[in-house]
Amino acid sequence: MNPPSVRTADARPAAGGVAGSVFRQAMGRLASGVSVVTAIADGEPHGMTISSLISVSLQPPLLLVSLTAGARTTEAVSASGRFGVSILSAAQEMIARRFASPGSDHFADLPVTYGDHDVPIVPNALVHLECAVDQTVTAGDHLLVVGEVLRVCQRAGDPLAFREGLFGDFTDRGHEPVLWAF
Ligand SMILES: Cc1cc2nc3c(=O)[nH]c(=O)nc-3n(C[C@H](O)[C@H](O)[C@H](O)COP(=O)(O)O)c2cc1C
Repeated sequence: MNPPSVRTADARPAAGGVAGSVFRQAMGRLASGVSVVTAIADGEPHGMTISSLISVSLQPPLLLVSLTAGARTTEAVSASGRFGVSILSAAQEMIARRFASPGSDHFADLPVTYGDHDVPIVPNALVHLECAVDQTVTAGDHLLVVGEVLRVCQRAGDPLAFREGLFGDFTDRGHEPVLWAF
């Protein structure tokens, strides 16, 4: 039998739709990895924590991130046409929190290095991808940014996970790997 559907107290649909708070709560149940998007504007490094990273295409290699319209990092990505994506390791919860705090200088007191394509690098990330903006699409209050991946660096380690406002770890079930391609 299916579990009963849950409708929360603040389920006030916008005209003809679903309330933002309900949508946010529902989507928060989707477990994700955690990354930091970085870019330079006026010589200064900017970065923001994101969970909205997906791979889009292998030939050519394209990825997509969804960034709050008007945020400093979003502006820096748009203006420079380049951005970095650092996929965080399980040991980097504090980095995720730092780059999610509104308004602060996210790179303050962090050693900043730059990749081959002039994008800031978050030290010790699991994966670092350097991208050129391929296309952008305004979608509601966010900017969807498709980036062509120009360079990839990886290191060993486990990923940081996120669900319902909490950081956690990924644990596999010890079963056979699923080798899939798209
Ligand atoms: C786990 C996590 C995931 C997030 N994912 C996104 C995201 O995908 N897109 C986005 O625009 N903001 C996302 N945020 C919020 C931004 O990190 C936050 O608003 C931003 O860093 C604030 O920076 P600002 O002061 O430059 O606006 C996320 C925050 C957290 C903690």
